[in-house]
Amino acid sequence: MTGGAGFIGSALSRRLAESGHEVVASDNINDYYPAALKLARLGHNGIARPGDGEKVASSLLPGLSFVRLSLEDKDGMERLFGEEKFDKVVNLAAQAGVRYSIDHPYEYLRSNVDGFMVLLECCRNFGVGHLVFASSSSVYGRECKVPFSEDARTDSPVSLYAATKKADEAMAYAYCSLFGIRMTGLRYFTVYGPWGRPDMAPFLFADAIMEGKPLKIFNGGHLMRDFTYVDDVVEATKRIAEDAVAVSAHTDSGRGCGSSGSACGSGSGYGIYNVGCSSPVRLMDFVAEMERAFGKEAEKVYLPMQQGDVYETYADVSRLERDYGFRPRVSLEEGMERFARWYLSAENPLRKE
Ligand SMILES: NC(=O)c1ccc[n+]([C@@H]2O[C@H](COP(=O)([O-])OP(=O)(O)OC[C@H]3O[C@@H](n4cnc5c(N)ncnc54)[C@H](O)[C@@H]3O)[C@@H](O)[C@H]2O)c1
Repeated sequence: MTGGAGFIGSALSRRLAESGHEVVASDNINDYYPAALKLARLGHNGIARPGDGEKVASSLLPGLSFVRLSLEDKDGMERLFGEEKFDKVVNLAAQAGVRYSIDHPYEYLRSNVDGFMVLLECCRNFGVGHLVFASSSSVYGRECKVPFSEDARTDSPVSLYAATKKADEAMAYAYCSLFGIRMTGLRYFTVYGPWGRPDMAPFLFADAIMEGKPLKIFNGGHLMRDFTYVDDVVEATKRIAEDAVAVSAHTDSGRGCGSSGSACGSGSGYGIYNVGCSSPVRLMDFVAEMERAFGKEAEKVYLPMQQGDVYETYADVSRLERDYGFRPRVSLEEGMERFARWYLSAENPLRKE
């Protein structure tokens, strides 16, 4: 599992190990946001002092180990795949963030395109049966009608981040078609919760509320987001990664296949799923929920729409529900309470007082 020191990856690797799976998590622990938080997530999973390239076993979770490694380190990745003989791979490592991609485009190509390419080649050359990879709701761009369906066209990305996620979907499709490796892309919708990302709105708003600084509200607050609680995302990803249905069965039923609903190639299965709460909220309602959870009213400053941003996200999750009997369900109220409790606790190395 790549991206194991990340927000979603640290929670997923913990959950998979707790369920009895043998998991090797990897991550390069880059400094896109403070490495202190990534190291604290690893510490929470019982991984201490992760050194370069060497495998460290968790002291808390039997079955979990960690390797510090970059996706684009071809030799290191080949060595790891050769040693471990993975049957499945979950790829969550990526350069994330829409706004950062405007000023740091090459970071996105390095991790999300070159790195993803190395991963695909490793899956091909080391007999991996199923690659589950994180895509993003951002592939829907600004023009899609809501709720976003996996059948909608996604060829008008409005950020380079979205373009690289779309590229990942296309590259995975090609490898599924050429080499018969099962590929499942998950379009996550604005994920929040404990151990969350400090570059995303919930964390930034929490910082501002605690420091008594104004919250930056873009597009006058006229934005809707399908905020999705991290445990729901972890559960959906786990079910899909655990799915043992043979590739040929996917082909026969059309289950889990691409936007056309058909299989991508001879005897292989390609699937795309939205993973979102399917319950979008207005940004100002989200802010009100945060103020309630943190017990403080925030000052606000209203700013224009940001470059690369979309007005609304809203997931149609009927495909996920049909194929995996699951739909995200943690309410914003409950999720925000859990996030606030964690943010204010000693577990959060970045908390503002
Ligand atoms: N959090 C969200 O709301 C959201 C929404 C849509 C899609 N996603 C996608 O889900 C995945 C996980 O997101 P997250 O929120 O946990 O992000 P995150 O940034 O917390 O986690 C990603 C991890 O990948 C690592 N990483 C980055 N580039 C790497 C590379 N080249 N080699 C090895 N490791 C590398 C980072 O150090 C980081 O720990 C990402 O692919 C992201 O694009 C997230």
